[in-house]
Amino acid sequence: MKLNTHEFYKLRDFMYQRFGINLSQKQQLIEGRLGNVLEKRGFKSFSDFISHMEADHTGEDVSLVVAKLTTNFTYFYREEQHFEFLRNVALPELVPRISDGNLSIWSAGCSSGEEPYTIAMFLNDYFGGDKHGLDTRILATDISDKVLGIAGSGVYRGEHMTKMPKEWYRKYFSRIQGDEYEVVPQIKKEVIYRKFNLMEPEFRFKKKFHIVFCRNVMIYFDEPTRRKLARKFYDAILPGGYLFIGLSETLIRSEAGFEYVQPSIYRKKGRGNY
Ligand SMILES: C[S@@+](CC[C@H](N)C(=O)[O-])C[C@H]1O[C@@H](n2cnc3c(N)ncnc32)[C@H](O)[C@@H]1O
Repeated sequence: MKLNTHEFYKLRDFMYQRFGINLSQKQQLIEGRLGNVLEKRGFKSFSDFISHMEADHTGEDVSLVVAKLTTNFTYFYREEQHFEFLRNVALPELVPRISDGNLSIWSAGCSSGEEPYTIAMFLNDYFGGDKHGLDTRILATDISDKVLGIAGSGVYRGEHMTKMPKEWYRKYFSRIQGDEYEVVPQIKKEVIYRKFNLMEPEFRFKKKFHIVFCRNVMIYFDEPTRRKLARKFYDAILPGGYLFIGLSETLIRSEAGFEYVQPSIYRKKGRGNY
């Protein structure tokens, strides 16, 4: 199926305005990745699909575009420096200052769940089973229904698990069959999945977060979008709290107001008691 220039501009503008996803250089990618799928679904042209998508309130069409044009690539224990930092610096610093019994962590752009489950497993190792009486449930959000479905099921293939500590196979998974493993209920209940678009003009959460992970998500966004997003994260994080981004990403610190700690780790100024 061919994508003409007018259709390309329409789709590009829609994706940018709704999701901050910058597809300006991606005309061929869109035609290649989306064309066949749309044909199979019975659309006659890209225009036909775009009209359908504009009228669609279920979010299904949009979800399809996001799934085809962005990568959901992720795996357990990705960027382990972040977990070292949590163990050695962030948690020893933050936890003693918590008085309301909540350690609040958000995995923003969680894809199929490997990241938030890794955090939950890591916390279980760090605190031990009773978590010192803390509620450490993790909020995990993504825009794509497809990946959230996988995350909720908690079923993974071994290829997503090769980087994690070996004992985790036994501790946190049960083998279903062959190369398929399911996250144990004790860890599943530690993660709350929600559909959430990071392009929402404001983040209205009941509580602010001690730690936000938004790793390998901003790669799709252009600089003004990244800057706005960093500002919203800043407002959503408690004083002294942390933002972790992907190791290959950077933030323009002065704009965002964060203190730079080390590559891909930023801290909100201040030192709160929570
Ligand atoms: C490459 S995955 C990163 C997964 C995980 N954070 C990691 O580092 O392994 C990027 C995820 O960002 C999500 N995403 C892209 N744009 C988004 C938006 N506007 N709002 C919420 N999630 C978005 C995609 O659906 C995808 O699942």
